[in-house]
Amino acid sequence: MRGRIPDSFIDELLARVDIVDVIERRVPLKKAGREWTACCPFHNERTPSFYVSPAKQFFHCFGCGAHGSAVKFLMDYERLEFPDAVEELAQSVGLTVPREGGREAAPREDKSDLYALLDGAARWYENALPGSAEARAYCERRGLDADTIARFRLGWAPAGYDGLIKALGGNDRRMQLLTEAGMVATGERGHRYDRFRERLMFPILDRRGRVIAFGGRVLAKAGDGSATADSRAQDARKGDGPKYLNSPETPLFHKGRELFALWQVKQANSQLARIVVVEGYMDVIALHQAGLPIAVATLGTATTPEHTEVLFRAAPDVVFCFDGDRAGRAAAWKALEAALPRLRDGRQAYFLFLPEGEDPDTLVRKEGKEGFEQRMKEATPLSDYFFGELAHDVDTANLGGRARLAERARPLIARLPDGAFRDLMAQELEKRTGASANVPAEPAARRAVQRPVAVQRSLVRSAIALLLAQPGLADQVEPPYRFLRLDKPGVGLLAELVDLCRARPGINPAMLVEHFAERAEYPALQKLMAAMVVGEPEIQRMEFLDALARMEDQAVALRREALTAKHRDGSLSQAEKAELRELLAARRPSAAQG
Ligand code: UTP
Ligand code: MN
Repeated sequence: MRGRIPDSFIDELLARVDIVDVIERRVPLKKAGREWTACCPFHNERTPSFYVSPAKQFFHCFGCGAHGSAVKFLMDYERLEFPDAVEELAQSVGLTVPREGGREAAPREDKSDLYALLDGAARWYENALPGSAEARAYCERRGLDADTIARFRLGWAPAGYDGLIKALGGNDRRMQLLTEAGMVATGERGHRYDRFRERLMFPILDRRGRVIAFGGRVLAKAGDGSATADSRAQDARKGDGPKYLNSPETPLFHKGRELFALWQVKQANSQLARIVVVEGYMDVIALHQAGLPIAVATLGTATTPEHTEVLFRAAPDVVFCFDGDRAGRAAAWKALEAALPRLRDGRQAYFLFLPEGEDPDTLVRKEGKEGFEQRMKEATPLSDYFFGELAHDVDTANLGGRARLAERARPLIARLPDGAFRDLMAQELEKRTGASANVPAEPAARRAVQRPVAVQRSLVRSAIALLLAQPGLADQVEPPYRFLRLDKPGVGLLAELVDLCRARPGINPAMLVEHFAERAEYPALQKLMAAMVVGEPEIQRMEFLDALARMEDQAVALRREALTAKHRDGSLSQAEKAELRELLAARRPSAAQG
């Protein structure tokens, strides 16, 4: 695991950078009162609805709803992952990102040395390719053109046990780095040799285009081009090791996170509507070469939730493409499970199963770009695949079958994030089985009956939003917080926010929100914050205090109602009687709404 970036550093960073600066460098801004505006870089518009608030260190577009801190802006604008956006911002103000735990806690120089070394290795393999007639012939046979070879930096690892070691491992330090980078393997008696020999080399790049690992393919003599489990097994039996050999996990390379060719995809597309995930290196390359630079692959592992997050960050629609065989189906279901928790509204997953014996490489060569695009258009939406797969062996014409379907689907639907898509899936289950999805978070039935809850919730919500807009307001509240008496969703979060603001005087809104970057509440907080980006500080202060007062009133009213009800059936204790008397005496007209 990559070491975690400490919260305190994000605080320091967001205190140090000015969001106006960060955005101005990329999008020309115009002053408008306290804020700055521009035409939104995230959607097409003629009149500016994009606002940047220097006081709140937050941006918000009233047109498309994009919003967030300077970190969020970089993530969206430069399409970076969180750690990379942090790294970039830090560099711009001359800070170094510290890491907690993880193997990256090692000094920074080590890592840049590793990057340089791996880049050197990639170059060495690239240079060796033209010199190998065998490798050149193989590339030709697979139909790889010069441009593709250059774009993917394909290379050749020659025969022999120490070619790379001799070229790059000049001293102890460099040998140690080669080993750490996974380029050198150690034999039984401590003898060290090149891990990759006589293989066509596929460098794996990270999100910033740096070489972090390799895949290497043997040049099989016959039967290339088709990708069956059988051919995999055959190749493995030939004694040359596996058909594809990948770098081991290293400080730079984590299979569960990286996607082959994501860099090339991002280079080729400034705005990406759809990204397709295939199984193999050659599949990716064939699709790119055929004019579909929207393909990536996992690296000989199942799709992880981390992968799916990276994918959805890159494009709102993700097409998972698998072989139609049993192994492909199993892999597809794994991908579905990995995608479920990431399916926020606006994100969609599709599944594309290929005919037996074909892979995207062979198909796109047969059917061309248009043929493959047509197949993507006809891909199965996640919801259809989901219910089709769960119901494939149950008879929904009878009660027992429907019950079984409901039982299987419920826990999976519960993994979806809150939102319209989850509601639709729950409805679909109900339609198919007659059973309610009964998703734990917010059963639809309860939502409908208890009307007042919604009112109280919006009160808590606005208190949170106002505090996010002006963290300094927390000073107006002293513990013990009386609003805590209101036992409603969000009240605990409000208290947590107040505590945090009180503990860190001078914290700005963007810093406050980033504290929740890894929490489930993060998107909701960002939305609340965005709603407040333009507003009069003094009015917001009064609204905040008013919201807290009304929360207290409601807590009192609820308690009074409960005690009055108990009083009616005569079960009130002496202490409770006294409390009720006090509550009735303190009654205020504004609290009557209860
Ligand atoms: P396939 O065996 O389907 O190969 O493996 P392919 O991509 O069609 O390759 P060609 O067309 O025969 O050259 C799919 C992916 O599974 C991983 C690799 O990432 C490969 O691209 N794999 C496969 C391994 O990691 N090791 C293996 O031994 C085989
Ligand atoms: Mn193949």
